[in-house]
Amino acid sequence: MYTLIVNGSPRKNGDTAALIRAFCRELPGKCEVLSVCEEKTAPCLDCRRCHTRRGCALCDGMEDFWPKLRQAGLLVFASPIYYGQPSGQLLSWATRLQYAFVSETIRRDPDFSLGRRLGAVLLAAGGGTKDPEPALRTMRMLMRECGAEYAGFAAAMQTDRLPAREDAEALSGVSRLAETLAARLEAEQFPR
Ligand SMILES: Cc1cc2nc3c(=O)[nH]c(=O)nc-3n(C[C@H](O)[C@H](O)[C@H](O)COP(=O)(O)O)c2cc1C
Repeated sequence: MYTLIVNGSPRKNGDTAALIRAFCRELPGKCEVLSVCEEKTAPCLDCRRCHTRRGCALCDGMEDFWPKLRQAGLLVFASPIYYGQPSGQLLSWATRLQYAFVSETIRRDPDFSLGRRLGAVLLAAGGGTKDPEPALRTMRMLMRECGAEYAGFAAAMQTDRLPAREDAEALSGVSRLAETLAARLEAEQFPR
């Protein structure tokens, strides 16, 4: 069982990192975290080279993401909420998912198949955002680009008063999510 977690927080030991740690503790198999703030991945330039040719014009490491994603039975997007949405850093990185959309629907490359997997979301918010749904809607859109079927989320929504690592309710939500996903991953075949 292989889980790929895309982390959109710049804080190495911040709230999102605490949720990820708790999540990985509960989930069997290998969890790998891709911290987009530590990557050199530039945002998509919409140069459209990929509309007619294989490979991205920006050779900056994003090409390593696709084989990892193909292996993953579970994809997790984890992020702080900034202005009601996933962090700009995550969204900037995610513009590069356009390569998948173009390969599948414009270039129709039969060799660029991502397969299917489960998807989940972890969110940390400082208290200003009461409703995570706008951020979740964006995350679900990104998941679809990755061949991931959204299967749930967990959140720490009051980190201004209670850091995620001390938020027992949020951490138990993370554990419940991990348990549910582990059961599904065991019962169903992912990636497919
Ligand atoms: C630029 C910026 C925008 C933010 N916008 C929101 C927001 O809209 N709603 C909210 O509840 N918290 C907001 N926050 C607070 C973060 O979501 C919160 O501190 C979170 O726990 C940080 O997670 P991290 O430690 O994983 O980076 C914002 C923080 C920053 C830096």
